[in-house]
Amino acid sequence: MDPTTEHPFPKKNIKNFSRSVLVTGGAGYVGSHCCKFLAKNGYVPVVIDRNLRNQSVEFGPSFQIDLPINIQALDDIIVRYNIGSCIHFAGSASVSESVADPSGYYKNNVIATIALLDKLREHEIKTFVYSSSAATYGDPGIRMAKESDTAKPINPYGATKLMMEQILRDYYIAYGMNSVGLRYFNAAGADPEAEIGELRDKETHIIPIAIGAARQGKTFKLFGDRYPTEDGTCVRDYVHVMDLADAHVKALNYASKNYGAKVLNLGSGQATSNKKILEVIQQHTGKMQIEIYGNRPGDPAYLVADITKAKEILEWEPTQSSIDNVVATALKWYNNVHKKEIQ
Ligand code: UFG
Repeated sequence: MDPTTEHPFPKKNIKNFSRSVLVTGGAGYVGSHCCKFLAKNGYVPVVIDRNLRNQSVEFGPSFQIDLPINIQALDDIIVRYNIGSCIHFAGSASVSESVADPSGYYKNNVIATIALLDKLREHEIKTFVYSSSAATYGDPGIRMAKESDTAKPINPYGATKLMMEQILRDYYIAYGMNSVGLRYFNAAGADPEAEIGELRDKETHIIPIAIGAARQGKTFKLFGDRYPTEDGTCVRDYVHVMDLADAHVKALNYASKNYGAKVLNLGSGQATSNKKILEVIQQHTGKMQIEIYGNRPGDPAYLVADITKAKEILEWEPTQSSIDNVVATALKWYNNVHKKEIQ
């Protein structure tokens, strides 16, 4: 298929393309929620993704494009939609996969992103929001991670994200590319209207797996209960995907008005152990079978964000990230996807 062929999408509410934003990976989990939020706030998300799903084509023009192979296709799209900025979600995001296939990760997360940045430079687009990750910190110990901490990734995935942050600093100095890199902690939850949600070919994340286990009467495998944490299980910081979407739009505005290459944590600032999250899920679903397994390789014991900087710079506040709301919206989405089986 010609990658410049636009996927048909409902053209409701679209008046002009003066506020159009190129969204790479707009069909993915965080990307699709951000597209919905952008569309609701008067922007036109122009999606490119190598794997378009139905949920991604609702909010703006969408193109099936694989970067960097189809990079030339962007020339036409950027001009056609008068693109002035870019939010870059596309990339590979599995820690274990990155350990097994570093070549694929460096190509997809670093080489493809450089090709994208250079294409944006050709078109004099200088506003860029980048999906980074808490994986840049590695294993920071039992304390809140701050942007000023030394980042020491412990896997190729984290290394690709940290490398891109450095490249963005260099691109600012040399080419005036203004960017905000957003280090997500654990993106979780779903669209409160349950139109879109967390949907992957191969799921590895605790919330969708545990909800699936509870709903289907399967045993949940809990990886490790002897970590140096209060209850012995890993501690994470779950940030609602709609709060992330809000932060992206704020970051886009920030990068369009301010010079520099910033890096900001996006979390809820709340510490939640694996045991705790399983407890909350069971409050919503009823009891599930849990079996303790060994530690999952590469899992840090504690990963919680200090979000002072994002709050100050973006004037952002996570308002939907209570653990109860995260679980409730994820469950509503699960029920929606599995409607037929539940009836
Ligand atoms: N877990 C289980 N059983 C499962 C799945 C997960 O016990 O079936 C545990 C994990 O071992 C971990 C916790 O649940 O202790 C959270 O695991 P997730 O896979 O849900 O999330 P991660 O914290 O591993 O992943 C997140 C982001 C990644 C990022 C990583 C950095 O989703 O993109 O943090 O460490 F790279």
